[in-house]
Amino acid sequence: MDMNSKKWWQNSVVYQIYPRSFQDSNGDGIGDIQGIIKRLDYLQELGIDAIWLSPVCRSPQDDNGYDISDYQDIDPMFGNLDDLEQLISEAKKRNIRIIMDLVLNHSSDEHRWFTEAKKSKDNPYHDYYVWRDGEEGVYPNDMGSAFGGPAWEWVPELKQYYFHQFSVKQPDLNWENPKVRREIYDMILWWMDKGVGGFRLDVIDQIAKEPDLKITNNGPRLHEFIQELSRETFQKGDLITVGEAWGADIDRAKLYSKPDGSEFSMVFQFEHMMLDQEPGKEKWDFCPLPFVKLKKCLEKWQKELHGCGWNSLFWDNHDLPRIVSRWGNDREYRVEAAKMLATVLHGMEGTPYVYQGEELGMTNVRFDSIEQYQDIEIRNMYRERLEKGYAEKDIMESIYAKGRDNARTPMQWDDTENAGFTTGTPWLGVNPNYTEINARSQLQDENSVFHYYKKLIHLRKENSIFVDGDFTLLLPEDENIFAYVREYEGRKLLVAANFTDKEVECPLLKEWGVPADEDGAAKSRDNGVKLLIHNYNDLPSQQKLRPYEAMIWEKAETGTEI
Ligand code: GLC
Ligand code: CA
Repeated sequence: MDMNSKKWWQNSVVYQIYPRSFQDSNGDGIGDIQGIIKRLDYLQELGIDAIWLSPVCRSPQDDNGYDISDYQDIDPMFGNLDDLEQLISEAKKRNIRIIMDLVLNHSSDEHRWFTEAKKSKDNPYHDYYVWRDGEEGVYPNDMGSAFGGPAWEWVPELKQYYFHQFSVKQPDLNWENPKVRREIYDMILWWMDKGVGGFRLDVIDQIAKEPDLKITNNGPRLHEFIQELSRETFQKGDLITVGEAWGADIDRAKLYSKPDGSEFSMVFQFEHMMLDQEPGKEKWDFCPLPFVKLKKCLEKWQKELHGCGWNSLFWDNHDLPRIVSRWGNDREYRVEAAKMLATVLHGMEGTPYVYQGEELGMTNVRFDSIEQYQDIEIRNMYRERLEKGYAEKDIMESIYAKGRDNARTPMQWDDTENAGFTTGTPWLGVNPNYTEINARSQLQDENSVFHYYKKLIHLRKENSIFVDGDFTLLLPEDENIFAYVREYEGRKLLVAANFTDKEVECPLLKEWGVPADEDGAAKSRDNGVKLLIHNYNDLPSQQKLRPYEAMIWEKAETGTEI
């Protein structure tokens, strides 16, 4: 293997599991840790190096586990600590590390710290949270929570409000209090002792909030807090750490992912994922993807972090709709589009993330009624917008396009009842297309999206240029083609993709000496080019790319063996 000098997590591919939707093992309709253990062989086959586990800690599940009531225990719904330790060791046997999701901006209101804090103003835990004196009905200010309604909740016994950037059941922790920070560090060290491979830091850019100044993310003490956190915990191990930061710009990203490890391994930022939202409006107000902007945005991140930071590469996660439905095609070209999107993403510099089901080309879902949706964000938005007079039909369209439950329908394992996810009633409906889109059939079909992801993952491992190479965007103004070159020490890769469902002109292939005819394979060697991966089975033409066609070519300097 052509290993380079980079850190292990730079050569890695991370797979995200949303545990409640992955695999149920006991028929209660909810995925669990034993279910994950059963599917480790599948993940090993795919070739991933680490699993980011969305939260499995004890929680009242108001926001599906992003509201933790005990950071050092597992929610019985998912299993117990022994199950988790078994998962860590079973994964380790397969060279897979487990990344835990750390939700440190807020806890659950059922966490002992909060139930204590609520007892009185002089309770030792009171100052673990963010309080303001006030009068009932007169909010400290007009800040709103991310899930709708005000960011302040009245506690009559104390005649105080507490601050919550998310739901009422997710009170914000007070990072200004050194005791809070110490408790958090001790908890993290405890997890490190258990042998976890790393951490994903939930909405970490929001911990240094300053509600009086109406500051939520990027507060003045943010990087001071993160550097202390990193010094006291992560730097004592060889971990992968990834900071979720919706509000990161390039300069902050460089701090988060500084190569000296003073903060995290990498940043997980969303600039490219917010481009199909109407400027200044909410995510529900969507617009067509400005494709040229997408390319320029990704180019900026590629260039600016090269050599001085590290990015996560992703299209999907548990908060985002399915990429093949969103920016690809989930009908006649679903397979081609899913592979194309993967090619473009995995060809770049950074650590790729695969969200469960993405490797099958799983799609968005359209449930008939709001009752079939479970997500707190969807339900609150539906109620609010109805009250504001939006038409029900339009609200449902927003949910179909952007709702988080699109990504949370159960994993589609096979074509048996409930897609092989559970023998009981699934907590959220299975997407009816599971009879067609499922892991079992894709494992048997070498042309499947699954096998394409597997190939891409291996390709990346065998070619360090994917990690080291610099990035040049080609045809920047082209409305259809996404193409770029990666270059490292005389080696060059061309990634070329058609982002549309039409056949489009592509001048690049001829320039690159890509062969024109059927015996091209032989000729291509003479031209010094080699096809590394392609989502069509026959050779491309020199002039045109077919719908969603994508490929990666390698070219070596003349005289170099490839
Ligand atoms: C992050 C999580 C999301 C959660 C929120 C509050 O954005 O990814 O699922 O609702 O933080 O914890
Ligand atoms: Ca279960």
